[in-house]
Amino acid sequence: SEVYLNGKWVKPDEAFVSVFDRAFMFGDGIYEVTPFYNGKAFKLKEHLKRLQYCLNEIQVAIDAFSLEKLMYEAIDRTGLNKADAAVYIQVSRGVAARSHFVPEKIETTVLLYAFPVTLEGFEKKTWEVIATEDKRWHRCDIKSTALLANVMANEEAIAAGFAENLLVRKGYFTEGSHSSLFFVKYGVVHTHPEGHKILSGITRAEVIDICTDLNIKVVEKAVHIDELVEVEEIFVTGTTTQIIPISSITHKDKKVYTAQKDSLTKKIQEVFIKKSR
Ligand code: PDD
Repeated sequence: SEVYLNGKWVKPDEAFVSVFDRAFMFGDGIYEVTPFYNGKAFKLKEHLKRLQYCLNEIQVAIDAFSLEKLMYEAIDRTGLNKADAAVYIQVSRGVAARSHFVPEKIETTVLLYAFPVTLEGFEKKTWEVIATEDKRWHRCDIKSTALLANVMANEEAIAAGFAENLLVRKGYFTEGSHSSLFFVKYGVVHTHPEGHKILSGITRAEVIDICTDLNIKVVEKAVHIDELVEVEEIFVTGTTTQIIPISSITHKDKKVYTAQKDSLTKKIQEVFIKKSR
């Protein structure tokens, strides 16, 4: 059995929770996705640290680091020790009669499983994307299972034949619907500062480290949609996305950006491959 649910390993088609689970009824849960390159976790501590941060923010008393062993067990049980995979962890506040306030003493629902992902060949991809208004709430730093605004944004892109949707709040790019966002302007890498408006991406932090190692200047400053004329390169990052260059941005049915080059993105990708493999 491959799926860990509330202390037991069960088969995927036997992994059920109650309809009264608060993640189902309210989106009252958080999640984490950790990549495993050829069976080996990448940035595991960073992922567990972010999970712990989210647990603390929603005041659920679980030790995120106690899940580390289960993550490797999930990889083993799924036979993914020699493959590229990711481990999904979801913690819901638990099962209770529906009410906005949280009843005392309910047991959290902990779900954990591994699934295969393609982590090879990302450096050969480019994405054409759209940009729309960021309709999310004001705590995007919490990796909440309540992803309706992200799903609607991504759905709009996919339905129109695009790969991702870059979100814009009050004229400034925040991030993608499921990725972090970087701009290269006059040779300087720009990315939205951490805080409540974006998720603190683990791949984002790794890319900033790589830039520092390569002596590439990084500023954590949001880029305005009117600045695109000065932008040379754009790329998105994420656990399953890794690092993918953006070839064009369409906004309100108009092409507002076409990539001028990809040389810096390529350099960063090269180092990322060395560090993750
Ligand atoms: N998404 N921003 C958002 C809104 C995200 O959902 C993600 C990741 C990222 C990139 O974060 P990281 O580098 O830590 O994966 C940024 C995950 C993979 C998902 O929802 O499946």
